Amino acid sequence: MNIINKAAAIGGGVIGAGWVARLLLNGIDVSIFDPDPEASRKVGEVMKGARRAYKQMLPGGLPKEGKLTFAKTIAEAVADADFIQESVPERLDLKHKVLAEIDAHAPANAIVGSSTSGIKPTDMQVAMKKHPERLVVGHPFNPVYLLPLVEIVGGEQTFPEAIEVAKELYASIGMKPVVVRKEIEAFVGDRLLEAAWREALWLVKDGICTVEELDDIMRYSFGLRWAQMGMFQVYRVAGGEAGMRHFMAQFGPCLKWPWTKLMDVPEFNDELVDLIATQSDEQAHGLSIRELEKIRDDNLVAIMEALSRQNKGKGWGAGALHKDYTKQLAKLAAKMTPAKAPAKAKPAKKAAKPAKAEKPTKAGKPAKADKAKKSKKKG
Ligand SMILES: NC(=O)c1ccc[n+]([C@@H]2O[C@H](COP(=O)([O-])OP(=O)(O)OC[C@H]3O[C@@H](n4cnc5c(N)ncnc54)[C@H](O)[C@@H]3O)[C@@H](O)[C@H]2O)c1
Repeated sequence: MNIINKAAAIGGGVIGAGWVARLLLNGIDVSIFDPDPEASRKVGEVMKGARRAYKQMLPGGLPKEGKLTFAKTIAEAVADADFIQESVPERLDLKHKVLAEIDAHAPANAIVGSSTSGIKPTDMQVAMKKHPERLVVGHPFNPVYLLPLVEIVGGEQTFPEAIEVAKELYASIGMKPVVVRKEIEAFVGDRLLEAAWREALWLVKDGICTVEELDDIMRYSFGLRWAQMGMFQVYRVAGGEAGMRHFMAQFGPCLKWPWTKLMDVPEFNDELVDLIATQSDEQAHGLSIRELEKIRDDNLVAIMEALSRQNKGKGWGAGALHKDYTKQLAKLAAKMTPAKAPAKAKPAKKAAKPAKAEKPTKAGKPAKADKAKKSKKKG
């Protein structure tokens, strides 16, 4: 079922560990490199949380987990991987250093995804001297093991084939790949989040509301709407029977009123950090980050399961994908557990299908390199 034979994770922090969890829980072996001496413990914590969430999604049992290996170097981690996901801190100099090393040691046909929240792939792939054409941004959302969306962005040197293979790879582990049509900083998700975050900081700084009140205003109202219909479809419905045209006629002109601070950024000084952090501590009511993670995961699973029963049982939005993903995992679990499998099922050595794993070669064929350098992946 899996088209990834072996994956490598470079960086095992919040996001890297989330990728590791999703891959392992899909039965895929992962080799990880992270210089933090605490990396193994931290990844273990995330794995615990991920297993807990997947057990709720799959009461019949989880697939046999892939094997996790801690490598001593990037070279060792990527040596025989066909999919590599980079999740090191958001600094261009560090991304360059790490991607250059990945590129130097990874098999030529491996796809390289970067978790960057906003750096353009064109600016990162200049560091890849051998095969820059196989780099894509694969921007996930935290927690990576539960939230299905991944924004795929290609740079000027990225092969269109690499985008196609990346789409397949991410979809094979239960994700919803959306290809961003033009390369811009921060892509689509973080553009939206940054606008809301900037405004939220102003509202708290100016004493209009506390962080808790702001979160309540969001989670008791449009947050619920967004999770199931997004922005445009919600507004279409809000336009009444005349739909979007009426909505735009009514609310379009308000956009010109000075309601928001738009591009102004509040000064990021100690005072602002203290204000936000202190109010955030009060809002937590003593719950630790790990406890909040459990609550978040339980709620996310519950929301996706509820959505999976909507639309006459076909599922709606993330719920429809959740339905398919849990079916796929249950099938994988049955294949991998001989005792629970039907009589004729053979114990699978590995989840991966070698035949399909060949596909990434399309991205790495040196023959196409010159052509791809001319044909930018745009539009
Ligand atoms: N945190 C989020 O919500 C979020 C969401 C989407 C994308 N991202 C992106 O994911 C990437 C990682 O962010 P994070 O939040 O996981 O950061 P993090 O600080 O939690 O983790 C970064 C990890 O990289 C490791 N690292 C540092 N140098 C390294 C090197 N040379 N080689 C290998 N590992 C190295 C660190 O030890 C650390 O464990 C960033 O590009 C970020 O923009 C973050």
